[in-house]
Amino acid sequence: MKLGVVVWVEGTTVKFRVREGVLVERGQLVKVEDRSQKFVLRVYDFKPESLLTPAEVAIVSKKKQEGENAPIYDKGLRLYDTALATIICQIDEDGVPHGPTGVPSLFTDVETLDKLDLEQLNLDTGDLPIGFVRVGHKTADIQVTLKGDKVIPHHILVCGVTGSGKSNLGKVLAAAVMSVPEPRYSLVIFDCESEYFSGASHDQYGLVHLPEAEDRLFYVTGRVDEPSIVTYEFNFNGELVERKILAYPLRVYYSELNPSDFAMTGEFSSPQEELLWLLYRRFKENWLEKLLELTSREIYDLLNKLAKTSTINVTKRKIRHMLGAGDIFVNEEGGFELSKAIISAIKQGKVVLVDIPYATEGEEKLLSAMIARKIFKVYEGLRKFDPAAWERLPYVLIMVEEAHRYLAKHALTGGEVRENIFSIISKRGRKYKVGALYITQMPGEIAETVIRQALTKIVLPLPTRPDYTKVIQYSPYLDEAEQEIKTLDRGDALIVSPPSGLRFAVPAKIFSFEKLVERRLRVELDKIKMATYSSF
Ligand SMILES: Nc1ncnc2c1ncn2[C@@H]1O[C@H](COP(=O)(O)OP(=O)(O)OP(=O)(O)O)[C@@H](O)[C@H]1O
Ligand SMILES: [Mg+2]
Repeated sequence: MKLGVVVWVEGTTVKFRVREGVLVERGQLVKVEDRSQKFVLRVYDFKPESLLTPAEVAIVSKKKQEGENAPIYDKGLRLYDTALATIICQIDEDGVPHGPTGVPSLFTDVETLDKLDLEQLNLDTGDLPIGFVRVGHKTADIQVTLKGDKVIPHHILVCGVTGSGKSNLGKVLAAAVMSVPEPRYSLVIFDCESEYFSGASHDQYGLVHLPEAEDRLFYVTGRVDEPSIVTYEFNFNGELVERKILAYPLRVYYSELNPSDFAMTGEFSSPQEELLWLLYRRFKENWLEKLLELTSREIYDLLNKLAKTSTINVTKRKIRHMLGAGDIFVNEEGGFELSKAIISAIKQGKVVLVDIPYATEGEEKLLSAMIARKIFKVYEGLRKFDPAAWERLPYVLIMVEEAHRYLAKHALTGGEVRENIFSIISKRGRKYKVGALYITQMPGEIAETVIRQALTKIVLPLPTRPDYTKVIQYSPYLDEAEQEIKTLDRGDALIVSPPSGLRFAVPAKIFSFEKLVERRLRVELDKIKMATYSSF
């Protein structure tokens, strides 16, 4: 459909006159065909063009205000709407898209994109589908997919205000990882809200409802005391569906913790970290018990006065805070090693769901730092010492919700900003196939380097200025997107992902996880019915 005519071009900005009676939306993709090139543009703003004199404006507005009719002579010649758009790519006569090198001529036609145009944009060449291309607020019948092997090691940042659809996207990504037939990727989720396993409420869906869950979900939970299979039953369209899921107890014995696990939370100053290592050297595997049992004075003496008592006091307090009340971290001899079980699940390309609804902030930090550190260590070690085994490892993506709490620009305690495992992964993970998925409502609070290193950014509605300006500042292709980011609807996103070969900010509608599960369940039940029918 014809939308208008180009009236001005400057740099990569194109202004076009909007045809009367036609609705053009902010964020919409449109095209201009000129001299066998196809220019694809995205609309970012509107501006009325007026050649009326101030006196005419005053007269017409006054008359309209009084409810009178106010005809404007030669209206179409002197007053019209224009839209401003940026050229995002140019498709040559062979249908190959590349960055814009030319501009369309004045007075060429601006049109809507058809299916072929959308296909030529190559938005669906990856293996992790996350949504549909969006044209304004409507969805087109073209999927947007990410290339897992390129996207994961370069990290992903997901940002959006509360209720914008961040957790929905997390579940959609988990579903995508689970449905890749080979164990090519793995995803680790720490779920503080207990919304991923069976949904946020009883009428919503979670990962357990997906047909692949029996093979590809590894559930770490306080609900079981030993490694076991949990059975989950639910009704769908009047049919009873049963899932048997591999579950592992959420329990970490003190013997599994070493000073690095604490240091890698980034919460300990250098003298405090030194103290942890002094204790470790002095007491070996009993170091943690001794730190908690002995008085600060006794530790001071036993360590030959190498650490100050004030440091010992603070360190004891911090460690107690992280270990919590003994629900997750237990001071017993134990038979299981949670991190080993998780790493083995990762090697099989599973989605590891660590369900921690009752964890305190301290427990959550220690647990996630410990698990992330151990994963990173295994990947780093294999890459160095057994490259062939490393090659076989799936790419692993570690999800961090509320990422601003882990990767703040400023230390929360006012002291120096200490490195933690997530800032290390963000800097060095790419060499080892370890990536992070940072989810946050406040990207403005996150360290700049982390935002820059997350090459794939999925921006959901984000109306606050310090947050969207930060993301725009550190992403290519978002220069003119400010208005659109502010006015996105829930589940609407702008996706920037050079590693996936997306060379502009792609407007997308993220799949609704609820609908995705229903689609998969319908297919699953139909297959079962077919199999039963054909066996008669
Ligand atoms: N793409 C989507 N399509 C349809 N519905 C969606 C979509 N994304 C989110 N929703 C719905 O919007 C609601 C809020 O989504 P969600 O819980 O994912 O938001 P959130 O950003 O994680 O919020 P919070 O910051 O509170 O964690 C949910 O009911 C969810 O089902
Ligand atoms: Mg959420």
